[in-house]
Amino acid sequence: MHTRIFHPEKDQNTIEEAAAILRRGGLVGIPTETVYGLGSDGLNAQAVRQIFEAKGRPQDNPLILHVADAAWLERYCLDVPPQAYALARRFWPGPLTMILRRREIVPLQTTGGLETVGMRCPDHPVTRAIIAAADLPIAAPSGNTSGRPSPTTAGHMLEDMDGRIDAIVDGGSCSVGVESTIIDLTVQPPRLLRPGGLPLEALEEVLGEVAVDDAVRRQMSPGEHPRAPGMKYRHYAPHAPVTVVTGSPRRSAAWVVSRAAAGDGVICFDEFAPLFSHCVVHKLGPAADKAAQARHVFDALRAFDATEVSHIYAQCPSEEGLGLAVGNRLKKAAGFHVEDAGCGPVFGLTGGTGAGKTSALQAFQDLGGYVVDCDALYHGLLRPDTPMGTAIREAFGEVFLPDGTLDRQKLGNRVFSDALALERLNAIIYAHLLPKAAECICGHDLACLDAINLMESGLGLLCSRTVAVLAPKEQRVRRIMARDGIGEAYARLRVEAQKPDDFYRTHCTDVLENTAQRPEEFRQQAAELFRRLIEEETNHE
Ligand code: TXA
Ligand code: MG
Repeated sequence: MHTRIFHPEKDQNTIEEAAAILRRGGLVGIPTETVYGLGSDGLNAQAVRQIFEAKGRPQDNPLILHVADAAWLERYCLDVPPQAYALARRFWPGPLTMILRRREIVPLQTTGGLETVGMRCPDHPVTRAIIAAADLPIAAPSGNTSGRPSPTTAGHMLEDMDGRIDAIVDGGSCSVGVESTIIDLTVQPPRLLRPGGLPLEALEEVLGEVAVDDAVRRQMSPGEHPRAPGMKYRHYAPHAPVTVVTGSPRRSAAWVVSRAAAGDGVICFDEFAPLFSHCVVHKLGPAADKAAQARHVFDALRAFDATEVSHIYAQCPSEEGLGLAVGNRLKKAAGFHVEDAGCGPVFGLTGGTGAGKTSALQAFQDLGGYVVDCDALYHGLLRPDTPMGTAIREAFGEVFLPDGTLDRQKLGNRVFSDALALERLNAIIYAHLLPKAAECICGHDLACLDAINLMESGLGLLCSRTVAVLAPKEQRVRRIMARDGIGEAYARLRVEAQKPDDFYRTHCTDVLENTAQRPEEFRQQAAELFRRLIEEETNHE
């Protein structure tokens, strides 16, 4: 069979053609605001049978009926409760499917043998026009091969259905991106069977109490029967195994940074993409924009099948709003393999030498915080036989002394007069330091990354607050002289070699000025700042 592609925006007649195919029992791919559907005449058992064949879908998995408006409920459903009309008034057309008792006219083929039927009024002008032209309820599951991610473009649907169906109507990219929310109105309290494009909170506004079916949050075991039969099947799964990581966005990013190896697949919030330049990345959307995440989740899952990745890590949004649906799709794709990275705040501390970072860190520890000394980590990684040491030697030749320590002068000669070489060296260092530092904060509810290159290394992205410790230059010079027992000229040179205060003022979220006369006084000041920041961040994350 040749699958035709219709472009209704170019040719209005294709609407009538699609309707005609449906009326004579054929299969048509239809655009909706959620995902593309694989439509047929929902009252024609023979036509419906072909949907199951084309998708490779188990026969016991019912289809939903797409109708023109709430007036059609009476035609196909018995005992329609007032709640159904209240929901329709508020949310139809839109991403909401209601489970109601079926009338005889709806064949058991459509309902997978159930006495109930799912009813939905989609919000897409093209499909609404097709329903009106066909004057039929269109039975339509998502237009993917059973088990694969749902299609959100006509092209995705063609990947799965080319040669199996009569036509696909191209209505552009789906604006919602995850399937409709399914609410069962045949039980009390009404029960959420599948989270989707309409948030649970919106349903609760109209219905009051809503029960959430177990299948939404956990894997069904073999003997269990979820109320939406489709929820028991493996779903949305790319070929490579998926690990979903929950927790605050920064925490889940840190968790993934600590595990993802070069060439692994990563689905991350947009802000964290720079941390994964060594991976195959698909962005989910900004951490705070769940609507964008819903639009991208299936494309991201689908895109990995064109790559060679052997494992995929995915950051998971929190459950509020559309996050419940996005997280559910990711978790189903992962077979509910979920890791929780926690929510505690992560701080970053930076600033030039001699400004008083050590006192500030002591204050943080006094408050029960865990400090990661990134300079110590760096020195631990810097040996001739470590991966970082090997990478440095491959790039710059032998720069280690026979005793295994770095020949600073030799390496310095290679990089300090050559900006590109220095950039290359830093890239090697940061690539090894990041996963190590990220691993260190995992499991500590209150952590602080202490790093002189906090912002340049990318570590700052993992911190909810980045605090710079600054002090007047003369004070720093005097402190270094006393601390390190060096002369004034050399101390001055070291201070001059570091980033100017302006750099920190521009890039950090908070500045801690050390103008105190005694270290004790400054430590107190630092404690006050940290106490305030911890409180703000704990309420916020
Ligand atoms: O957004 C959507 O709902 C898309 C677009 C095309 O409208 N359609 C869709 O259909 O996602 P499908 O078949 O992929 O998913 C429908 C889900 C399945 O999990 C099915 O088991 C459940 O709805 N379902 C359908 N009728 C049901 C019924 N009578 N009782 C319980 N669950 C039902
Ligand atoms: Mg589906």
